[in-house]
Amino acid sequence: MKTSSDIVHTGAFFRKGDLAALLDKVHRSKGWDFRGYKPASLKRRISKRLTTLRIGSVSEYLLFLDTDHSEYFRLFSHMTLKVSEFFREPEVFEALAAELKGARGLSRGARAWCCGVAHGQEAYSLAILLSETIGAKAMARTNIFATDIDHAAVDDAREALYRAESVQNLERPVLNKYFTRRGEMYEVKDEIRNVVKFGVLDIVKNPPLSRIDIVFCRNLFIYFNKKLQAEVFSKLDYALSPGGLMVLGNAETIPARYASMYEQVGAATRIFRKKRE
Ligand SMILES: C[S@@+](CC[C@H](N)C(=O)[O-])C[C@H]1O[C@@H](n2cnc3c(N)ncnc32)[C@H](O)[C@@H]1O
Repeated sequence: MKTSSDIVHTGAFFRKGDLAALLDKVHRSKGWDFRGYKPASLKRRISKRLTTLRIGSVSEYLLFLDTDHSEYFRLFSHMTLKVSEFFREPEVFEALAAELKGARGLSRGARAWCCGVAHGQEAYSLAILLSETIGAKAMARTNIFATDIDHAAVDDAREALYRAESVQNLERPVLNKYFTRRGEMYEVKDEIRNVVKFGVLDIVKNPPLSRIDIVFCRNLFIYFNKKLQAEVFSKLDYALSPGGLMVLGNAETIPARYASMYEQVGAATRIFRKKRE
């Protein structure tokens, strides 16, 4: 007999066609398009929700969605994993800092975009890095656009308040310089907050930004199938100016059809410079 944890791990709630039926329903009702996300991780996460609700099958869950519309939002929250941290994959930030120190182009300020920013740690980390590397004058002319599909995560990110455990991997001088303690919480200081502009943007269905010098899109492609990776990459590529930097997650890479248009910056990290024509 299967235990509930077996069910969560194997996605045994799902019979053939169930996932497609559920994703079609979500798309029709709410406009959220998860149809190009990898099935295995979606099934795992949806199964968790069904276990919590003590619902035994996807067909039963489809009926439940009709009776309780607020369930769509809880399902959405389960389908978008928002794990992040300050200076996640620190070697990437070190390599980026080294690259930017020599970049005269950014002395006039930069336009950066963090796509899939979750609760904001990545955008604030980038703002701190830029503040330390490009100088105050350039910083005053710098904007970091930080976007995510999830309204609630974006609202949280804007608040710029983090628990002690979220800032524990920051070095003490960085913490003291860029954060203010508020009781049990740490708040990002205005000089950093003012550089970051948050917004809701679904990279699957919305058009991209433009004239960007640095694109961060990390730990999002891993959830997409190959076709969707290529579609989304074409939007990021559109956004990035020639000579700009594309920063992906350590487990991600540039789709084959774009590979010749980029050169890798250092072998150890997934930072790529877009070639000029
Ligand atoms: C695992 S987090 C990565 C956060 C951060 N980039 C990092 O690497 O620490 C993935 C984020 O992508 C967001 N996301 C998922 N699908 C998206 C979409 N279609 N458009 C924009 N953001 C999306 C999720 O809501 C989540 O916040």
